[in-house]
Amino acid sequence: MAQAFEAMKLTDRVYWVGAIDWSLRNFHGYLTSRGTTYNAYLVVGEKTALIDTVKAGFGDEMLSRVASVMDPSDIDYIVSNHAEMDHSGCLTQAVERIRPEKLIASKAAVSALDQHFHGALQVTPVSNGETLSLGDAELTFVETKMLHWPESMVTYFGGDAVLFSQDAFGMHLASTERYVDELPWDIVEYETAKYFANIVLPYAPVVVKALSSLAGLDLKVDLLATDHGPLWRQPEHREWVTGKYGEWSEQAPTRKAVVVYDTMWGSTDMMARAIGEGLSAGGAHPLLMPLSGSHRSDVATEVLTAGALVVGSPTLNKTLYPTVADVLAYLTGLTPKNLVGGAFGSYGWAGQGSSHVQEALEKMKVDLVVEELKVQYVPDAEALAGCRAWGRTIADALMARLPQ
Ligand code: FEO
Repeated sequence: MAQAFEAMKLTDRVYWVGAIDWSLRNFHGYLTSRGTTYNAYLVVGEKTALIDTVKAGFGDEMLSRVASVMDPSDIDYIVSNHAEMDHSGCLTQAVERIRPEKLIASKAAVSALDQHFHGALQVTPVSNGETLSLGDAELTFVETKMLHWPESMVTYFGGDAVLFSQDAFGMHLASTERYVDELPWDIVEYETAKYFANIVLPYAPVVVKALSSLAGLDLKVDLLATDHGPLWRQPEHREWVTGKYGEWSEQAPTRKAVVVYDTMWGSTDMMARAIGEGLSAGGAHPLLMPLSGSHRSDVATEVLTAGALVVGSPTLNKTLYPTVADVLAYLTGLTPKNLVGGAFGSYGWAGQGSSHVQEALEKMKVDLVVEELKVQYVPDAEALAGCRAWGRTIADALMARLPQ
């Protein structure tokens, strides 16, 4: 019988059987403006394994793609590389339909899956480096703790040189194209960086360790098969993305100065524009991101490759403007590093808004190279000249940090 969803053959023995989520726009606070995919794979040997599953609600699509290759009940093993619900949400549905011999996950995933599904799943734990025979083929499991959950692991299929890397090297991008090289490169570049900034960044030190331990295994990889978005099959693209993961983990400062702010009656906006002029005069590259039109996850993406973070807030009811509070809470969790910066804002009679910004930036360990800058009510020409000079001071501190 004809069906809407079919598997896509990737290699001799590997099929993509995931789901495309064209309408997702909010991934726990991250604006996924291009949707996403939840990638799942079949490895077909004498025995067959399903690697990862998809988010709840997409199980029928996944099973339908599987059915275009084989009867789902003929699958022998399910491997869960990562317990987060965008990959485990339909595990119980998959287990009920497939009745696998084993559901395999890392040791740390046993309690994680139990706490998600409250005893509904029987998990067979595997250790780091353990293998699973598929008869004429073999899977190897490698722990990648905190990349980006404690139970995360990747699965290597040496037979066709495929590394199933779960979230690592992914991007939120819905498409029927399955490979990075079939998509516009500027979109691939932006969405890969956005994914790193919003998902992977807090675990940057672990990324470096995980990359070097994977490199130490000297695995031949012809296909890097992530759990989100298109796959990496060209050697130069795999080299690019692994290189970028290393570079983004380091967060070496650049000339880019992100100025993120909101405004109540236009005064903090006037300050931001004058500060931008001063940053530019000092050799920095200012990027003004008014929160009336900039999403927190786009701010995080720009901060990933910045050297300065300058944040402005008006004072509203003795505290921060709500949009500024939101972006500061979000960025604090992502723990960007190696930034200089400062806090600014206009106020009416109390002026606590920029002080709260200053406290948040201190908590984020941004190197505050200037005093907090406040202007009462509407800045006049002299105040704006002061804003420009203040921006220039930040630029000078930033430029002094860059390699000459
Ligand atoms: Fe795609 Fe960490 O889940």
